[in-house]
Amino acid sequence: MKKVAVLGYGTVGSGVVEVMEQNARFIEQNVGETLEVKYIVDVRDFPDSPHADKMTKDFSIVENDPEVEIVVETIGGAGIAYEFTKRSLQAGKSVITSNKELVAKHGLELLGLAKEKNLNYLFEASVGGGIPIIRPITQCLAANRIDEVYGILNGTTNYILTEMIQNGRSFEDALKNAQALGYAEQNPAADIEGTDACRKISILSDLCYGEEVDPNEVETEGITGVTLDDVKCAASLGYRIKLLGRSVRREEGGISVYVAPHLLPETLLLSRVDGVMNGIVVRGNALGESMFYGAGAGKLPTASAVVADVMDAARHSKRRRDIGWEAASEGHLKDASELESRWYIRAALTPEEAEARYGNVVFAKAVDEEGRIAFLTEKKSGKEIFACGEAESRYRVIEG
Ligand code: HSE
Repeated sequence: MKKVAVLGYGTVGSGVVEVMEQNARFIEQNVGETLEVKYIVDVRDFPDSPHADKMTKDFSIVENDPEVEIVVETIGGAGIAYEFTKRSLQAGKSVITSNKELVAKHGLELLGLAKEKNLNYLFEASVGGGIPIIRPITQCLAANRIDEVYGILNGTTNYILTEMIQNGRSFEDALKNAQALGYAEQNPAADIEGTDACRKISILSDLCYGEEVDPNEVETEGITGVTLDDVKCAASLGYRIKLLGRSVRREEGGISVYVAPHLLPETLLLSRVDGVMNGIVVRGNALGESMFYGAGAGKLPTASAVVADVMDAARHSKRRRDIGWEAASEGHLKDASELESRWYIRAALTPEEAEARYGNVVFAKAVDEEGRIAFLTEKKSGKEIFACGEAESRYRVIEG
């Protein structure tokens, strides 16, 4: 029997305990031995929980118990979670996490520590919730040179945009619902301002290109500027607005990484990834494009990925998974505004002014509430677009 400790009994942590109990028989058959949650560490009290006997506020009990071989970190953030992860690894315990902030910020160091100690630090749930994406990239697609990875990486914002697109609901109303359903981060700013997607695309970039990307250096725009007018104008052009994280290999070396709302043609599969679902496209030089689709947030989908990592660590307690990346080389991260694409613009211009500034454009049939026009440009770099002057909205177009 292997003993597990769960740090943080919030949405994901409680889901982990639930899945481990509910699927105990399958897990035992698969791993070849029983996995038991010995401790649940949380600063809060849960007197009515059926697991009250396992609860403790004192992490050092876990740290000093040699019976605990695997620690699940579902605290979130990069504060106490960082400290407990390091202390767990130093105490000889493998660590499994869903914490994208910690992996994006300190993954290089924590993976290095795990390697030094011959332990596992696994984080399948940190990107795409329950969608298998870390293992496919590191194992199934290992024979490819990855040229691009992009996708809908945040369930909360996708839920909000879907509600705006399909039901004409307001942003605030849809956000409240996402929070009530347990999708949103503790601080929803991380979702709606794109920070959560930024952390996830940074991790995907680390894995796909083998060098660390500092999330603080990734150009990030969330969905707070997307209006129902944009949704309507985009629809009149045959497009849907989605928040994408995107990471592209540059021909001259290095990569460009950014997060921003995009217009996707209604015919593109990714534009049909709705609600809390995530969709991630990986383009490899042998594979071509492959899309990974599934529940990107929520208690049990995320717990599903965490528990699979726990099982993997239990099966490979003597043989660590060789996942990792190097520190960034000089000039690895290149300016994303050099990338070219078509652009959607909504601006207070006459059609003649729009053509004079932006060249050939395709006008939307709809205008916004103030009578401002919207249009699509031909392919241009971000730099060229920003030089054309002010606009209410400016979003890249992905043609697929
Ligand atoms: N807040 C995140 C989301 C949770 O909405 O996608 C999953 O990482």
